[in-house]
Amino acid sequence: MIDFSGQVVVITGAAGNLGMAAARAFHSAGAKIAVVDKQREVIRVVFGDDIPEDDTCYFMSANLMDEASVAEMVRDIGDHYGRIDVLVNIAGGFSMGPPLYETPLDTWEFMLNLNARTVFLVSREILPLMIEQGTGKIVSIAARAALAGKANMAPYVVSKSAVVRLTESMAAELSEHNINVNCVLPGTIDTPRNREENPEADFSKWVPPGALADVILFLASDGARAINGAAIPVYGRS
Ligand SMILES: NC(=O)c1ccc[n+]([C@@H]2O[C@H](COP(=O)([O-])OP(=O)(O)OC[C@H]3O[C@@H](n4cnc5c(N)ncnc54)[C@H](OP(=O)(O)O)[C@@H]3O)[C@@H](O)[C@H]2O)c1
Repeated sequence: MIDFSGQVVVITGAAGNLGMAAARAFHSAGAKIAVVDKQREVIRVVFGDDIPEDDTCYFMSANLMDEASVAEMVRDIGDHYGRIDVLVNIAGGFSMGPPLYETPLDTWEFMLNLNARTVFLVSREILPLMIEQGTGKIVSIAARAALAGKANMAPYVVSKSAVVRLTESMAAELSEHNINVNCVLPGTIDTPRNREENPEADFSKWVPPGALADVILFLASDGARAINGAAIPVYGRS
């Protein structure tokens, strides 16, 4: 098992399906975690008695689309733990749309803000800390759908493509600072929402959140120090 003792890991979207799995995995591996999501109360309910807020787990609410809220969140975590070793950008989401010619501007902007702006704002805010430390790892969640355009999901595809390009750009800028920036391209994750929306699908072909969390932990570990700017496919058996 990878040992994250002594490391501080920030996980955004931590109250969601993948976020929970990643937060639990990092915590079990000895990390001090800061779990970030929209509502503190939801975080509290999700982590329950399992991982209560204590000196190894810090609950943090923020609107990650909002510049001031992100700045406050990062300042708060920095003050609390004194360092940030790993950032896992998980907050994001998907919605199927109409064809592009019927897509409202609001839908376009929401999807880009949800998936790309959040990664930009949180990474930008945390990076000066990592640069000062001389070490850091960022792992972001793009999607398999980032690789090619598809009907009725242009805003999502574009927003996740942006995550891949942001990853490559940051990796190019930061390698001299001993900071690795990578992303994963999940296929369909085995979540309750996906099961509900696709009851006929073969769930065994999807990616279990815990399996995806294992890949994220590896990318955040010293074992992945030679990987920088990569977009790793994690498709399960689909
Ligand atoms: N599920 C899949 O099949 C799949 C496939 C490929 C890639 N992905 C990507 O994997 C990641 C995790 O997916 P998931 O299924 O675990 O999603 P999820 O369960 O919806 O979790 C995402 C979490 O992010 C939070 N969040 C959204 N906007 C936020 C904001 N502005 N500020 C703070 N928190 C915010 C959400 O809160 P609310 O619920 O309150 O909005 C939610 O708790 C996402 O980036 C998703 O796009 C998922």
